[in-house]
Amino acid sequence: MSAPRGQFSSNFGFLMAAAGSAVGLGNIWGFPTNVAANGGAAFVVVYLLLAFMLAYPVLMAELSIGRYARRNMVQALRGIATGPVSRGVGTIAGFGGILVASLILSFYAIVAGWMVAHLADPFANLFGASETAAWLTGDSTARNFTFTAIFSGLTMLIIASGVEKGIERWSTLLMPALIILLLMLIAYVLFQPGAMKGLEAYLIPDFSKLSPQLLLSAMGQAFFSLSLGVGTMLIYGSYLSKQESLPRLGALVTLIDVGIAFTAGLLILPAMYVAQEAGTQIYSEAGELIAGPGLILQVLPAMFETMGTSGHFVAIAFFALMVIASLTSSISMLEVPVAFTIENLGMKRRPATLMMGLVIFAISTVIIFNFEALFGLVISIATEYGQPLLGVVLCVFAGWIWNRDQLLMELKEGHPDIEQTVFWKIWPWYVRIACPLLILAAFAQTVL
Ligand code: TRP
Repeated sequence: MSAPRGQFSSNFGFLMAAAGSAVGLGNIWGFPTNVAANGGAAFVVVYLLLAFMLAYPVLMAELSIGRYARRNMVQALRGIATGPVSRGVGTIAGFGGILVASLILSFYAIVAGWMVAHLADPFANLFGASETAAWLTGDSTARNFTFTAIFSGLTMLIIASGVEKGIERWSTLLMPALIILLLMLIAYVLFQPGAMKGLEAYLIPDFSKLSPQLLLSAMGQAFFSLSLGVGTMLIYGSYLSKQESLPRLGALVTLIDVGIAFTAGLLILPAMYVAQEAGTQIYSEAGELIAGPGLILQVLPAMFETMGTSGHFVAIAFFALMVIASLTSSISMLEVPVAFTIENLGMKRRPATLMMGLVIFAISTVIIFNFEALFGLVISIATEYGQPLLGVVLCVFAGWIWNRDQLLMELKEGHPDIEQTVFWKIWPWYVRIACPLLILAAFAQTVL
């Protein structure tokens, strides 16, 4: 039907790619922001619990279905279906995954475009081009369009090069760079006046803030951060060799994701209080910590400006970090529709990438030109409705529909003694019952 399927060349390559997908704006922006808005460490504790108890099991469902089927989500779910009804549901969910992945990329590319523009800003400043700098950081439709186009183009370039030469190569290059930049920035910020107050706000829990709302935010955050529901992890699993232990790799991906989110908190929260010390307002009129775009695009840049020339370099490091994190995530989103077009429509990778990339860029463009009306709406449809509902379908397929012996055989590949592990004693029941119920309960909360 099509060219031979791509595959990750090594265990490490898969790990960097999957961790690269997981670690993104969700970790470095979303997580610290949620922490700031939800009682500091109380949110951290709930998040850690949910990441391992809810997100990890769903991640395992995606990885094992993907590696077993060696196909995209549409084909994979149809492949394990047992009758016309489950085939129908599998087909719908598969296409739903492609649609939601594309919608997520359409808004993600806009936000990532802001990061590219802010990365260019300190260069403009260093060269004294203050008008250009103002345009780069001003909020205009032209600026948004230009930088979304640049970022989408970069994403397409990597995906056009394939699994091993594109996704794997760039992830193994960029992920270590990301960690180094993050640690350097933390080391710098922690020595600035005010940083310790931020650490306190981050690490001392205020459990009076615990609420159903907090649980909901933590669940959404965990699902988004582990790239769940839309077939991203499923397709990465499908490129993984049968010699690796899935439960182990899945646990490592979760650990890296959670670890980097936590580490990013050590940067962002202290940075907020350093900004306050330098005279920037970090609480809104209503007395809440400034969280959304204002935090990353105003509070932090304002702080960089108080640092003089060295501030330009800190800003470059910070926004380079954001661009890298975004890029290793956006490629994993684009791979979802591209893999489908290659496998089901028989297209070659390059034209498939160009076509899907342009379709998604067209959606971004519609959002950019109707920003007020569409930006929040698309985020909410994709992440509050799409991801959880698709997550439930994936759990049902892994837990109820997929033949138990086949599932066991798949997990035994790369982990021959899986039957004796705690994982095998708990997980199959867990994805069957606990996960769908927990997700649905949370979803009911959102809808009501
Ligand atoms: N996990 C990434 C982040 O935290 C975003 C991401 C990549 C994603 N692929 C995804 C989110 C698929 C949802 C679905 O930024």
